[in-house]
Amino acid sequence: MTKIHNFSAGPSILPQEAIEASIEGVRNFAGTGLSVLEVSHRSKEFVAVVDETKAILTELMSIPEGYEILFLGGGASTQFLMLAYNFLETKGAYLKTGVWASNAVKEAGLFGEVQVVASSEDKNYNYVPKGYEIPTDANYFHCTSNNTIYGTRMTEFPKSPVPLICDMSSDILSRPVNVSDFGMIYAGAQKNMGPAGVTVVIVKKDLLGKVSRAIPSMMSYEVHIKKETMFNTPPVFPIFAMLQNLKWVKKMGGTTAMQKRAEERAALLYNEIDNNPLFTGTVAPEDRSWMNACFLLTDSGLEEKFNAAWKAAGISGIKGHRSVGGYRASMYNALPLESVEALVNVMKTFNQ
Ligand SMILES: Cc1ncc(COP(=O)(O)O)c(C=O)c1O
Repeated sequence: MTKIHNFSAGPSILPQEAIEASIEGVRNFAGTGLSVLEVSHRSKEFVAVVDETKAILTELMSIPEGYEILFLGGGASTQFLMLAYNFLETKGAYLKTGVWASNAVKEAGLFGEVQVVASSEDKNYNYVPKGYEIPTDANYFHCTSNNTIYGTRMTEFPKSPVPLICDMSSDILSRPVNVSDFGMIYAGAQKNMGPAGVTVVIVKKDLLGKVSRAIPSMMSYEVHIKKETMFNTPPVFPIFAMLQNLKWVKKMGGTTAMQKRAEERAALLYNEIDNNPLFTGTVAPEDRSWMNACFLLTDSGLEEKFNAAWKAAGISGIKGHRSVGGYRASMYNALPLESVEALVNVMKTFNQ
């Protein structure tokens, strides 16, 4: 089989050794003679998987005391409403930087007042607003660290007077972050962490229990914490596969090494976008994402030729999101530099 260069926006590339270890677990899980697909989530072998996944994530992100890690179903989209259930008493403040941030705003609006502190909607979300003020009377401030669809990222996080809640779905583990600056971090696993089906929530315990509304059990972080992320059946296989990926991240040198890989990939691709007259970037250069690079052909008449060339080179998944058009190369943790080299080579040569 020829090597496919997988630039999919998510679910997306995973390290081959994580895939192999997952396959082995499907065949024979932890020497039980059973498949990980058919064991109880309460078996001692699977409880050990949950414990190890928490421990390795704690180590990779230097998660301090006082935070809890949950592995939930429902995708990051469920967190848009779940965080409002648990934290929005009177007002939530939001940074609106794209489709996902807008969805978070919309869901929170069902629970109380929502103040959009700043938005980049005026320029089709091609930059990240700066210099905004976070209201001190909000219950929290919500932001999105990396905007998967539009290809922007927050290079730094604001000093917030209220708990900072961040959707890190598309760049978690791609750079070191100071977890203690955040009240809560959440991420759907299917980009940098594992397969689809599990969402990681890292929440500061002492912020919980402050809203006056009744919270349905499945929506309550406190309930999930009390039951050690097993209030209901957790996504067993996605957690197992995520652990295999986290082991790879650790072996490779953790988030510092992931950042170096991300910088190298992004520098190579953006350099080509900037210097090749056949292409143009869609995002303000200072806010460019390291994970999702969006670009257009300067002459749309070359589309067929370019598409044929990258497909012939074994490149997959670079069609842009329908709301931006053009191309989007997603370069998550597991993507080797060699895949970006293959894409850059096509960009250089397809019209010669
Ligand atoms: C930044 C961000 N937030 C949220 C979501 C939604 O995640 P899910 O499909 O897991 O609900 C996505 C999906 O791509 C995303 O990129």
